[in-house]
Amino acid sequence: MLDLITLEARARDRVSTAFYDYVAGGADDEWTLGENEKAWSRYVLRPRVLRDVSSIRMDTTILGAPVSSPIGVAPMAMQHHAWQDGALSTARAAAETGSLMMMGLFGAGSADEVIAQSGTAPLWLQVYLLKDRARSLESVKRSVALGYQAVVLTVDVVRQGNRLRDVRNRWAFMDEADQSAGDPNEIFDHALTFEDIARLCREIDAPVVVKGVLRGDDAAACVEAGAAGVVVSNHGGRQLDGCISAVEALSDVVACVGDRAEVYVDGGIRRGSHVLKALALGARAVFVGRPVMWGLAAQGEVGVREVLRELAVELERDMALCGVREIAEIDASLVARAGA
Ligand code: FNR
Repeated sequence: MLDLITLEARARDRVSTAFYDYVAGGADDEWTLGENEKAWSRYVLRPRVLRDVSSIRMDTTILGAPVSSPIGVAPMAMQHHAWQDGALSTARAAAETGSLMMMGLFGAGSADEVIAQSGTAPLWLQVYLLKDRARSLESVKRSVALGYQAVVLTVDVVRQGNRLRDVRNRWAFMDEADQSAGDPNEIFDHALTFEDIARLCREIDAPVVVKGVLRGDDAAACVEAGAAGVVVSNHGGRQLDGCISAVEALSDVVACVGDRAEVYVDGGIRRGSHVLKALALGARAVFVGRPVMWGLAAQGEVGVREVLRELAVELERDMALCGVREIAEIDASLVARAGA
């Protein structure tokens, strides 16, 4: 049974207060952080019955690559604070469970060590473009050559969010190793536009996915620039407080993108039913952040595997209870606004 409250408590006992706050916290008043989880309850499932659900298949494809389920791992920096080998353990757990993982380069580990852990499930590389564009592009190209199947460009960090817990804990000043990555406010390229998406798509030899989109018009512009997918995300409530929750933003993006690209969502996904709602609203896959970090902090690779497996167990049960036997059977009729 997946018990994320106990898991988070166990993780909390094993890490420093500053790291716990860094992971758990969000920007300003943490309103959007709370919204991300709460907003899933504003949608209800409309189950089908009498559909012979004796066998359920959760496998699907993401950008054409087969995965065991539509549940993937969101990119997260600083995983070595949770477990000694950090993202390597996460990558092994993702590989074992056949889950897609987005590997973050910023303070999370080295791209070549992580690719060495990968199995048959795809591994994507999440990047930020730096002011030194030439160097930044070179490093992305080098990593793509290692075997990452897509590049995820995160576009919602044009300023570092105002995370009060981190300010209070002086988190940014705590770890010299992390400092070597540099201050995001100083080194990230804040001049990016849709033209840069088009340039990135032209210059690298892998599909580009844009992460951190919350509006249909922006998503459509990314797709017109050549993006193969967009991740509807508010960075787990860590950037702009007061902004729309990921799930509330999803339908607009799906409507504007249509079948020209794939749409994914992350933020507050804690239950198999959330995954089902996301897919019914038009997402191809979902990504999970903090629960994976808690699993890693509590038990390393085993803990991450448990989180991914248990979410899949919940999804399997909820699919059966909704009368759907495979991912392709999940459609818009399965979900409605609560109270509508
Ligand atoms: C993140 N996130 C993130 N995103 C990204 O594109 N690059 C990064 O380096 C990080 N780093 C990071 C660290 C930590 C500790 C957290 C919690 C999150 C955001 C992440 O990919 C994702 O969007 C959210 O975490 C999803 O929300 P949930 O599942 O945590 O609610």
